[in-house]
Amino acid sequence: MKLANRTLRLFVGGILFFSGLIVAPQVVLGGQQPQEPPGSAVASSQGKPDDATTDGSASTEAETCKTCHEDITTSFEKSPHWKTMNDTRGGHSKQGCEACHGPGGDHADDPSKPVFDYKTATPEATTDRCLSCHASGSEHMSASNSFHRQNDVSCTSCHSMHHARTKEHMLVKAEPGLCYSCHLQQRAQFNMPFRHRVNEGLIQCTDCHNQHGTGGVLEGDHLVRQVRTSASGDMVCFKCHADKQGPFVFEHAAVRLEGCGSCHVAHGGANAHMLKYSNVNLLCLQCHTNSPGIHATVMDANQSHYEQACVNCHVKIHGSNFNGLLDR
Ligand code: HEC
Ligand code: HEC
Ligand code: HEC
Ligand code: HEC
Ligand code: HEC
Ligand code: HEC
Ligand code: HEC
Ligand code: HEC
Ligand code: HEC
Ligand code: HEC
Repeated sequence: MKLANRTLRLFVGGILFFSGLIVAPQVVLGGQQPQEPPGSAVASSQGKPDDATTDGSASTEAETCKTCHEDITTSFEKSPHWKTMNDTRGGHSKQGCEACHGPGGDHADDPSKPVFDYKTATPEATTDRCLSCHASGSEHMSASNSFHRQNDVSCTSCHSMHHARTKEHMLVKAEPGLCYSCHLQQRAQFNMPFRHRVNEGLIQCTDCHNQHGTGGVLEGDHLVRQVRTSASGDMVCFKCHADKQGPFVFEHAAVRLEGCGSCHVAHGGANAHMLKYSNVNLLCLQCHTNSPGIHATVMDANQSHYEQACVNCHVKIHGSNFNGLLDR
């Protein structure tokens, strides 16, 4: 899936790159031209951004910025946002540099005049800019009220538009290091003896969490733990542990109603199978009172049975197709 996506992206990227060559040769070859001094014809045509939106030329504006910001523009030409240059529907205000930095005509004429500067902008203002294009789709539709956003973690806490360190997704750092840079407690959890192998790259934080925000149950004023759901809207755990989903003829109500988290820790812990308790029986007895009645036949006949783990007999602890006692 991922590979196919990437191939497609490369393919589309290739087409866009070449159409860029055709529509905007001066941008691609710009590095070989003598640099325009400030206030030249190219730069001053930027003095009126409103006019610029009507000239239909996708390249003029980036070319203007390039005269002074050559490195950034050159790398921008290879970044995913270069694609915005080919979409002329929104005019210049939705294309290239100006899509993110706002109208730059005055600044190009006189660099002491500001454009939108992400280094001094508030996290809110930064995120709003990005969301002007990225608010749709299942991945991002909850971004405007994500817990990250509510805690001043903006898009540029994790992404960099000009100085990205990863090939994909323009991240400031690859996972899980990116997440650990703020979530130290979770780093410790994924070093526990029984854990999901996140550090080894087997699975990622973002397989289970939507760092951009999730729809779902409100707890106080935020959406619970930004945990993803599976495609069918169920617990994210079923995405990979499909055998635990059933359907079972005899369900263990704890799995269905209370969720995996009633018995397991999701990240990692000291107990085998990432269970909440080192002693399985203690786990079970959280919900099942050890009233003598329940094992009238098996237990009371043989005291040694009390020493056994409950799951020695109730082996199908996640659900059974044969017996309501979950013993086969
Ligand atoms: C005439 C040269 C020139 C042109 C053309 C130019 N810039 Fe700048 N730009 C500068 C200089 C010089 C600075 C550094 C200002 C400073 O450090 O105070 C700068 C700074 C910036 C910054 C940093 C934030 C800030 O406001 O200090 C951004 C973002 C920026 N330019 C974007 C653009 C964009 C987008 C364009 C095209 C629309 C553009 N520039 C065109 C010279 C130029
Ligand atoms: C998708 C949004 C986006 C686009 C498009 C974009 N920038 Fe930026 N720009 C940013 C962000 C965010 C920063 C803050 C630093 C970072 O994230 O890398 C920034 C920082 C800058 C800076 C400050 C210096 C630096 O190295 O960080 C300059 C100058 C700049 N951009 C110029 C440009 C020019 C020129 C273009 C067009 C070729 C452009 N930007 C296109 C978002 C954008
Ligand atoms: C806490 C870190 C973090 C924050 C904050 C964040 N992102 Fe991301 N983003 C990631 C990571 C990690 C990936 C790659 C993994 C994935 O696709 O889920 C990604 C992927 C993406 C992608 C490409 C895949 C896709 O979903 O289409 C886009 C676009 C994106 N982010 C935009 C944004 C925008 C816009 C914001 C701000 C509203 C933002 N991100 C905030 C970490 C973050
Ligand atoms: C003018 C609209 C626009 C704005 C504003 C914008 N983006 Fe994008 N962004 C795009 C488009 C178009 C793509 C390419 C999508 C594709 O390839 O399918 C993209 C792609 C991305 C990707 C995906 C890269 C990948 O490899 O998958 C990330 C991450 C991203 N943008 C983050 C941001 C952030 C952060 C901001 C704010 C600083 C921002 N964008 C602002 C239009 C925009
Ligand atoms: C196997 C799925 C899974 C993976 C992988 C995962 N998480 Fe979680 N995470 C969860 C679940 C489920 C919860 C909710 C636990 C609860 O509410 O008791 C959670 C809770 C959290 C919380 C809220 C505080 C807490 O501990 O309850 C943070 C922060 C968090 N995860 C960060 C991360 C980071 C960072 C990574 C990667 C290093 C990561 N998670 C990887 C499933 C996962
Ligand atoms: C720039 C710092 C920063 C980065 C990087 C970061 N986070 Fe967070 N994250 C926070 C803050 C701040 C909160 C809210 C306070 C808290 O719960 O610690 C938070 C909360 C969370 C929560 C808990 C939500 C809840 O309901 O309790 C999860 C889950 C989470 N982050 C996952 C991630 C993942 C996954 C990544 C990496 C892709 C990541 N974070 C990267 C700062 C960050
Ligand atoms: C992206 C896939 C994925 C998701 C989502 C996922 N897991 Fe896992 N899980 C794995 C893999 C792979 C292993 C095997 C780990 C190993 O061998 O290191 C595993 C192992 C486990 C184990 C330990 C098994 C053992 O014998 O020790 C438990 C328990 C577990 N997962 C529970 C959960 C729970 C609970 C959730 C939801 C919060 C969840 N998993 C979500 C992939 C996933
Ligand atoms: C009622 C408590 C309970 C609940 C709820 C529960 N488990 Fe378990 N799980 C256990 C016990 C106990 C074991 C160890 C079984 C053993 O030792 O034979 C286990 C073992 C596992 C294992 C490793 C062995 C195996 O069967 O593959 C995985 C993976 C697992 N559980 C995933 C999940 C997932 C995913 C969920 C949620 C859908 C879940 N569990 C819900 C109690 C529970
Ligand atoms: C989070 C609470 C919870 C935990 C922990 C839990 N259970 Fe349950 N279990 C239930 C509920 C609720 C039922 C539904 C039966 C009922 O109506 O009493 C149930 C049903 C059962 C049944 C079927 C009983 C019947 O009458 O059909 C068995 C057997 C069972 N559990 C064994 C275990 C074992 C063994 C463990 C420990 C590995 C365990 N349970 C852990 C909540 C829990
Ligand atoms: C030696 C095998 C064995 C062990 C060990 C065992 N059970 Fe059972 N359990 C059974 C059998 C057989 C039944 C059904 C017959 C009966 O009621 O005695 C049963 C019945 C149950 C029932 C359903 C009772 C009812 O009234 O419907 C529950 C709940 C249960 N066990 C939980 C547990 C828990 C919790 C533990 C661990 C503390 C445990 N069992 C240990 C064999 C065992």
